[in-house]
Amino acid sequence: MKDIAILYSFNTQKTSRAAKMIQESFGGKLKQVNVENITKEEFLAYENYILGVPTWFDGELPNYWDEFMPDLEEVNLKGKTFALYGAGDQVGYPENFVDAIGLLGKVIEERGGKLIGFTKNEGYTFENSKALRGDVFCGLPLDFENQARQAKPRIAAWVEQLKKEFK
Ligand SMILES: Cc1cc2nc3c(=O)[nH]c(=O)nc-3n(C[C@H](O)[C@H](O)[C@H](O)COP(=O)(O)O)c2cc1C
Repeated sequence: MKDIAILYSFNTQKTSRAAKMIQESFGGKLKQVNVENITKEEFLAYENYILGVPTWFDGELPNYWDEFMPDLEEVNLKGKTFALYGAGDQVGYPENFVDAIGLLGKVIEERGGKLIGFTKNEGYTFENSKALRGDVFCGLPLDFENQARQAKPRIAAWVEQLKKEFK
């Protein structure tokens, strides 16, 4: 397996907490990259990515991801592989649960990137999510508000899946 970089905002709470758990499950081998103010060149430096993207503003990307979108929309991601995880709140925002995973995943695929790390929608209760494709999410939703204790086992299972899916 090639090196994997985990990119997320170091200023976040839940997304950073999840990143630490993911890092531990990988035995500390991930390169940690702060996505705040990242340049196109810095972003393109890797082949295997884990991206952390919480949902904010009723179904939107947080500001720091949104600011990077114009750059992402013009790069070539062919040959690169991406696994997405996202913090969300299925009780507070059931109509937009972890939408940002879906928004980011769509652009990555449009630019030629490959998405891995899809997960079943079992164990969550919500109305709508842009991250859903049939009955699977195109990433790993984590809900620290309502299902904090499930974060660790969900991450552990997801990391085992990623170890098989990353080349
Ligand atoms: C103003 C506001 C809007 C939010 N909108 C959504 C949303 O549309 N969908 C969702 O799943 N969670 C939503 N959330 C919940 C956050 O995604 C959740 O609190 C998450 O854990 C934040 O992660 P962070 O601390 O890493 O930024 C919202 C939270 C706030 C405060």
